[in-house]
Amino acid sequence: MLGARGGWRALRRCASLPRAVRLRVREALGAREAAEAVRVQGWVRSVRSQKEVLFLHINDGSSLESLQVVADPSLETRDLTFGSAVEVQGKLVKSPHRMQNMELQAETIHVVGPCDIWSFPLKMKERHPLEYVRQFPHLRCRNNTLGALLRIRSEATAGIHSFFQDNGYVHIHTPIITSNDCEGAGELFQIETSREAKESAENTHFFNVPAFLTVSGQLHLEVMAGAFTHVFTFGPTFRAENSQSRRHLAEFYMVEAELSFTENLQDIMQVMEDLFKTVTSTVLSKCPRDIELFHKYIAPAQKGRLEQILKHKFMIISYSEAVEILKQAPQTFTFKPEWGCDLQTEHEKYLVKHCGEVPVFVVNYPYDLKPFYMRDNEDGPEHTVAAVDLLVPGVGELCGGSLREERLPFLESRLQRYLDLRKFGSVPHGGFGMGFERYLQYILGVDNIKDVIPFPRFSHSCVL
Ligand code: 4AD
Ligand code: MG
Repeated sequence: MLGARGGWRALRRCASLPRAVRLRVREALGAREAAEAVRVQGWVRSVRSQKEVLFLHINDGSSLESLQVVADPSLETRDLTFGSAVEVQGKLVKSPHRMQNMELQAETIHVVGPCDIWSFPLKMKERHPLEYVRQFPHLRCRNNTLGALLRIRSEATAGIHSFFQDNGYVHIHTPIITSNDCEGAGELFQIETSREAKESAENTHFFNVPAFLTVSGQLHLEVMAGAFTHVFTFGPTFRAENSQSRRHLAEFYMVEAELSFTENLQDIMQVMEDLFKTVTSTVLSKCPRDIELFHKYIAPAQKGRLEQILKHKFMIISYSEAVEILKQAPQTFTFKPEWGCDLQTEHEKYLVKHCGEVPVFVVNYPYDLKPFYMRDNEDGPEHTVAAVDLLVPGVGELCGGSLREERLPFLESRLQRYLDLRKFGSVPHGGFGMGFERYLQYILGVDNIKDVIPFPRFSHSCVL
């Protein structure tokens, strides 16, 4: 038998040994039958050395569960510790333990990368709080909770793309660098070349005009909605929001859709609701163990609530009704609810509670509260626009959307640049954007948005 020091390379040179099949941990755990020569690579999650036998658990990120490795104690080396990277070859056999389907009987263990356990911030078998692992953006993916989160995030991303593709939408890569402020809220990051590049350039502006990181792909989607009736984009968006709140990031992912020949806000809301329900059902069925971790340890009872929500229609109230509900609330708010004022987080929270802790669409906001592109409802003194926000428990605003003002005279008084789009075959259209991190926060019950993105960026923090 080859010792740990002989390693995998030595093994490969030895022609008499069968060539081992490389399996991911997930594949090994799910194998239907035993296999003579299997090779697994990953990181050690636990080492337990007994007199007669050495137990390891190996994780490679393919599943929440680790693969149990059973070895002769002679294979143990000083480097074989928690956190080290290893390559194990041996026999895959049915596990005698009911907890696990298969286990690996090691013939060789090669430590590919040792781990300095004294300075390694993660500790064996410890359930580290999310705030603790947040300090180690370069290592927290090796933690169970973040591992589960990243697998769920990956499945949800695929689910979002499938939802739109299955419904006949064309995916558009909207630009990250843009010369406009789509939302008009002024929360822009401006782009500049480095000092060296500036010195060699003739121009102060690389693009001749000021350029920014996009706050939304909406305008570019609207362009495309002039040729394709259904389009979507799903990419990073940037906002210089000076906020450290648990629901704001400076870089976040937004899912956006735009639909042409749409005159009804209900059509937009239907897409939002279908998107939410379809993607959530997909994620629940594709990552049951990872989801269970959140629903067991992070947000107990969230599973039952989500299942209920998936069965029922989302509620719809108007902005005016929302203000009435707030005015009649038995509690006092820091910001007094008044028609014409923005809904604050405390208001959103109350509205969602009032409606029974379910997702609520709030429609028809005051004209003065919303961006220039939203369609005028022409409703007299009230003067609202066809806007919709989807509020959800624990998070507040998850989606924002509207019908777009496609009528030239209405826009003329508002913004010059938008006008050309309306001159050549303009049609009624509308769309929405959903914050992907807020979506994950909601379905998983994660309190802080910084824990649902691999590398969070927010004011005063851009680590790695
Ligand atoms: O409501 P918003 O600003 O809408 C738009 O940008 C539209 N142009 C979208 C469209 O109609 N195509 O942003 C959409 C969503 C919000 O509802 C929220 O979920 C999320 O993006 N969001 C943020 N998420 C994390 N951090 C931030 N700073 C966010 N700002 C908005
Ligand atoms: Mg909004």
